[in-house]
Amino acid sequence: MRIQTEENSVAEVTQARIWNVPVRLFHWMLVSCFITAWLTRDDRYLDIHLFAGYLMGGLILFRLLWGIIGGPYARFGDFAFGWREAWSYIKMALKGCLPRFIGHNPAGSWGIYTLLGLGSLIAITGLLALGGEEGHGPLAGLLSRSQGAITHDLHELLAWVMLGAVVIHLLGVVVESVLHRENLVGSMITGYKSVPPGTLSAAASRSVGALMLAAAIAAGFSWFYGYLVETPEQPYIPFVGQQLPDNALWREECGACHLAFHPSLLPARSWRLMMQEQASHFGEDLFLEQDAIDEITTFMAGNAAEQELTEAAWKINQSIPKTEAPLRITETLYWVEKHSEIPMQIWGNQKVNGKVNCAACHLDADAGTFEDAAMRIPVEKEQSSTVLFNEIFQKAVRYFSFNSAPPNRLDDKG
Ligand code: HEC
Ligand code: HEC
Repeated sequence: MRIQTEENSVAEVTQARIWNVPVRLFHWMLVSCFITAWLTRDDRYLDIHLFAGYLMGGLILFRLLWGIIGGPYARFGDFAFGWREAWSYIKMALKGCLPRFIGHNPAGSWGIYTLLGLGSLIAITGLLALGGEEGHGPLAGLLSRSQGAITHDLHELLAWVMLGAVVIHLLGVVVESVLHRENLVGSMITGYKSVPPGTLSAAASRSVGALMLAAAIAAGFSWFYGYLVETPEQPYIPFVGQQLPDNALWREECGACHLAFHPSLLPARSWRLMMQEQASHFGEDLFLEQDAIDEITTFMAGNAAEQELTEAAWKINQSIPKTEAPLRITETLYWVEKHSEIPMQIWGNQKVNGKVNCAACHLDADAGTFEDAAMRIPVEKEQSSTVLFNEIFQKAVRYFSFNSAPPNRLDDKG
């Protein structure tokens, strides 16, 4: 449906429904998903990020279908403009005289195709990264961790490109709204536009809209159900990693004074060195017999970071120069970077009490998996507001500073 009117010949106008309920819901839900996914791009909100991503993918699939059966103005056939038409429309817009289209205009149509295409690519690269890097999702194990990391970079790049496309889309909306003195945002909310008499009005399709909403709410409910039923004793962990190799003697001897740090957290050369020096272990003598030393060393070296049993293992191993054998996980570059944003007073708070107490924040520290979104920073009551403020403040500083060098926080051990 391509209705074109001359700018100055609008004698009589009436109201017609142009955007039906599913189109409007699609639009605003997609906006919400994009914003949510953007705000939750940090690992620790991965489960929320994934929900926004899956919903976005589902919405795009729905829109592809609705583009075929969705009625006038919503069908792709209604705004199947060629590139030349879009370009000449943009040139007219630059001159300030713009023919009016009731449905999508030629430039806007290209914007929509671009956004749908980018959204699809982002969903696909997201799934590939999730499957490769994290070993989760429907494509788990399809790619190696390093291939997963590459698709992760691509995923981020595409998200930036999409942000750019969104900005251009918004500029287009502003320009068209001004030139036609028309509230385009309002019409995407109410569905109505001022049109010449006789213009076709679209059916509302409320039942399809209700189904969309019901499906999204049901999906959200089942996705986040774990948080509703968790108890302090049994906190909910969104991602349960694979069961890692275990050894009773190792757990007993190495879990006596602190968490039994899983072998996957340091390379084999570090563990060998640590076991050789077990009589002077951070100022303690472990008094281990040679048999025990051998068994524990074999277990640790066999499941060390090089085996890439987890994402953390892979990343820790990559961040250690091959010539070094660090004895502290907390001094590896990866660990330092991952924890650099945590405010200082957190490390000293009673519930955390030092960097070595991984289990204070990582719900799966004992299992050794260190999954994304399995961490909760315990906050003492009187700290909560200052900590929150600090975190937001530090984020803002990092965001607006052009200094790309990672801060070195090794010295502020608390
Ligand atoms: C007698 C108590 C004791 C036992 C048993 C013990 N450790 Fe430790 N370990 C310590 C102390 C103390 C530290 C230093 C903690 C600190 O800096 O807060 C430490 C630190 C560590 C660290 C460094 C943590 C970091 O990243 O900063 C690792 C790794 C470690 N131990 C591994 C082991 C292994 C493997 C075993 C078993 C062979 C073991 N420990 C058994 C007392 C112990
Ligand atoms: C004060 C709380 C706290 C303590 C204690 C802590 N961590 Fe973390 N850790 C975090 C937070 C928060 C993040 C997430 C940072 C982010 O969002 O990128 C994180 C991230 C990580 C990651 C990366 C997870 C991933 O898949 O990206 C690993 C691995 C990790 N921590 C290991 C450890 C180990 C090992 C210890 C103990 C030696 C430890 N952490 C102690 C809070 C903590």
